[in-house]
Amino acid sequence: MKGSSLSSNAVPGRPAHRTVRELPPAFLAPNVEFIDLHPQTGSFLGEVWAGMGARPKKLEPKFFYDETGSRLFERICELPEYYPTRCETAILENHAEEIREAVGEDPLLIEYGSGNSRKVQILFDKLLPAGYIAIDISRAALLQACSELALLHPSMPVSAICADYCNPVTLPERMLGSAARPVAFFPGSTIGNFTPQAAVAFLRNMRESVGAHGGLLIGVDLKKDKARLHAAYNDSDGITAAFNLNLLHRINHELDADFDPSSFEHHAFYNEAAGRIEMHLVSRRRQSVTIAGRTFAFEEGETIHTENSYKYTVEGFRKLAARAGFGWNKVWLDDERLFSVHYFAAV
Ligand code: AVI
Repeated sequence: MKGSSLSSNAVPGRPAHRTVRELPPAFLAPNVEFIDLHPQTGSFLGEVWAGMGARPKKLEPKFFYDETGSRLFERICELPEYYPTRCETAILENHAEEIREAVGEDPLLIEYGSGNSRKVQILFDKLLPAGYIAIDISRAALLQACSELALLHPSMPVSAICADYCNPVTLPERMLGSAARPVAFFPGSTIGNFTPQAAVAFLRNMRESVGAHGGLLIGVDLKKDKARLHAAYNDSDGITAAFNLNLLHRINHELDADFDPSSFEHHAFYNEAAGRIEMHLVSRRRQSVTIAGRTFAFEEGETIHTENSYKYTVEGFRKLAARAGFGWNKVWLDDERLFSVHYFAAV
């Protein structure tokens, strides 16, 4: 999932509404408070060894997002076949007024996995938030994005929290006190990269953080015809394949491993029974690979499961959110009904 040790959920898709010139790395705007919760990034090697020892073999999708992987993901978001970013952006732009009505006045926006904070800016002019809290594991991206945003909104308090958003995050009291309603913002359908059970647990943490008067604004990809889904994860330029295979390049560079990426193949398909896209890397031949001194055997056709991306119906997602303590709901779809943005109030 685009989660515990990767930088962002704020998926880059298009240029920010307004930008300021590039800021020096250590710059912190005066209206930004920085809170460092020192997230543990875990052991890459330990997790890779464990994944190669599992049956079937697996790698966590959070490892996609090294520098190259993050750049490839930006390109995915701009592909004609990859509709989620385009659709979600259109929903936020076209329905900003109704979103404002649902959320109410003076919200405190809390973005989980804020990255470059680009999507939230679409809402700023309409929602006029009383404050903004950005939570991200990548310290550098977080500080840069928050400072840029704070300079554009100099009277708005901004908190930059460096944390693993998969763990419960206690929000600063000062910020909570200044707003009418804390609203968690989780765009990009990153929730689809959690299993439904893990998604409920994660949303429960969010519900705890925003409290009984809080809300949740979340982007969720919808179930649709198989061909459309298949194309979104099997683009004709091979960018998604490169994104998937980059995991092996990353392991080679960072962990003294000898994967031959050309002997693995990108395989993505819609698993209808499970309601999810699965991404795998398939070994084209019988081979063995050594990773930091440990050797792992692959049969021809054996796969490494690298990602799940769950798709929901509107009703299915409402039920899931209800299990996490979110009730009253408004939902907006794009014109082709491919993607949804939900607003929920806490119950
Ligand atoms: C980040 N996440 C929501 C993307 C998705 O669609 O599941 C990651 C992705 N994997 C392949 N393409 C995009």
